[in-house]
Amino acid sequence: MADYKSLVWDGLLELSAYVPGKPVKELQRELGIEKVIKLASNENPYGASPKALAALKEYEKEITRYPIGDSYYLRQEIAAFHNVDIDNIVCGAGSDEIIQLLYMAFLTSDTHALAPSPSFSEYELLARGLKSNCRWVETNSDFSINFENILNAVNEKTRFIMLANPNNPTGTLFGEKAFTDFMDKLSPDVLVVLDEAYIEFAEGDYPDVFALMKKYNNLMTMRTFSKAYGLASIRCGYLVADKECISLINRIRPPFNVNSAAQIICAEALKDQEHIKKVVALNKAGKEYIYKEVAAMGLEYVKTDTNFMLIKVGDGKKVFDDLLKEGVIVRFLGGSRLKEYIRLSIGTEEENKIFINSLKKSFK
Ligand SMILES: Cc1ncc(COP(=O)(O)O)c(C=O)c1O
Repeated sequence: MADYKSLVWDGLLELSAYVPGKPVKELQRELGIEKVIKLASNENPYGASPKALAALKEYEKEITRYPIGDSYYLRQEIAAFHNVDIDNIVCGAGSDEIIQLLYMAFLTSDTHALAPSPSFSEYELLARGLKSNCRWVETNSDFSINFENILNAVNEKTRFIMLANPNNPTGTLFGEKAFTDFMDKLSPDVLVVLDEAYIEFAEGDYPDVFALMKKYNNLMTMRTFSKAYGLASIRCGYLVADKECISLINRIRPPFNVNSAAQIICAEALKDQEHIKKVVALNKAGKEYIYKEVAAMGLEYVKTDTNFMLIKVGDGKKVFDDLLKEGVIVRFLGGSRLKEYIRLSIGTEEENKIFINSLKKSFK
């Protein structure tokens, strides 16, 4: 019998698997109730563009064939959308895979990534899975990014700085001036990844990454179809970066990493920007409703530029559990900075009302 634990590399035993938001079906089964809502994984509750979904018919014809290896036609749409060259783009099975590809290409066991804390936990998990690491640099007390702390943490072993803008789980956004001041002080050999998974929802000032990439060739952006585009299950994201960076990544990219359904649907989704406008407007209305209701309950929240928000509820775990009993799945992230918070993904009007009513019950 193989003793698997003795066969893996040492660091693997220290890791634990990523815990995603609880699935609806699981809670339905546990509670024996039908009405369960999930406001935990920052998905788009309004769904994908109907025009994109109509393209699924095309996919049926493609299902027996391998996908186009380099996502050519999808990259063509992305290139036109951002006004960049097709050779500046690589697509991945979600931005998760893009992070992994970047790390595989450029991280080694004696180099590391840096990211503000709290931020997206995959920055660390994926680095550690490659026998490297991501070091966390604390944000300010209001969760805004502290660029000075990040610059101070950089050393000759720093390969990446991972900057989610807007950030997950805080919803905070940084602007262009603070960012370019930071870029001007940074060595060009440190690669700066702007993870713009939620950028469609941003209302404030943020860096114009496509213009700035012309000045800083160590700067790149990651985008995803999982959030505003409402296509989380299709698994598709992309990286826009310097051509040389893309060509190096292509040397290690699995040949058919983006499936045909994703390539077909995402190309159509990108063309339907009217749908994105609708989603963003509905999200904004939902966000303002929750701001108002939460403030009326005397609770604090972190202003958000995304489709989710942190609400300060005191005992985060207790409120999370109370909400679960009501059939409402939110996220409790815990840790020293977030133990008093829950993270709520903004839902439909009906879901937001159910959430507020359930939250009120928790405080009775
Ligand atoms: C900041 C951030 N980046 C990347 C991702 C990964 O998204 P994808 O579904 O494209 O892998 C997420 C998902 O929650 C996220 O919050």
